[in-house]
Amino acid sequence: MWAAERLARKQVGRRGMSKRKKLSRAWLARHIDDPYVKLAQKHGYRSRAAFKLIEIDAQDRLIRPGIAVVDLGSAPGAWSQVLRERLARPGGAGIDGRIVALDLLPMEPIPDVTFLQGDFREEETLHRLEAALGGAKLDLVVSDMAPNLSGIASADAARMADLAELAVAFAVAHLKPDGALLVKCFHGSGYSQVVELFKRSFVRVAVRKPKASRGASAETYLLGRSPKASARAALGAEQGAAAWDEP
Ligand SMILES: C[S@@+](CC[C@H](N)C(=O)[O-])C[C@H]1O[C@@H](n2cnc3c(N)ncnc32)[C@H](O)[C@@H]1O
Repeated sequence: MWAAERLARKQVGRRGMSKRKKLSRAWLARHIDDPYVKLAQKHGYRSRAAFKLIEIDAQDRLIRPGIAVVDLGSAPGAWSQVLRERLARPGGAGIDGRIVALDLLPMEPIPDVTFLQGDFREEETLHRLEAALGGAKLDLVVSDMAPNLSGIASADAARMADLAELAVAFAVAHLKPDGALLVKCFHGSGYSQVVELFKRSFVRVAVRKPKASRGASAETYLLGRSPKASARAALGAEQGAAAWDEP
């Protein structure tokens, strides 16, 4: 009985392993054939994600010289590279504007980009980010943050929604009245609540699915423009109440 059980477990293990291998082979084949991977290599971007921001920006004109922008979930750094390129002064004389990038993981430096390593869900990270901004109001917040996927769709969608909600709270508190927030979301449980939150928080809301975002992926981007005064007031009241509750 014991031997039979051991054999069954071994077989399940082998089956699981071969499925994983198949999936990673399929991923590799797709990656090698991916035109955006080739383009990213050609242009020196650190990942194909660069083209998602480039495409959304071509439609929505979010990145202009002079802006102050925060890039959440910035590693390995392709979005920060695009932001830097767009804010670059002619003749290589630095940038016109301000870029602060944040990620859980380390990121190779990019000239003129202030990078902070930390978990955006933690208050201490938020304080460091606010200190780096030195009270400056922002024109743009972009968030490509994505949790490590567990493969359990509902859990992954919930973690994603959690990060999106934190990005909305941060943006509402720090954006200028005509500022914008771009956030990666996953279609799935929690998605409609995030859309509702965007509608409560911003005057204008749009959904974007750039071509560079793989069609089969649940990934989509929400764009909110001009934080509503009511959202700011609600956030202030919430923060006030939290401070009040502190022992
Ligand atoms: C898809 S990648 C971002 C790619 C990036 N936009 C680029 O262009 O290179 C998602 C990133 O989100 C980061 N991330 C996930 N959860 C985070 C958290 N709680 N705080 C900060 N960064 C987080 C991950 O470490 C990962 O580097």
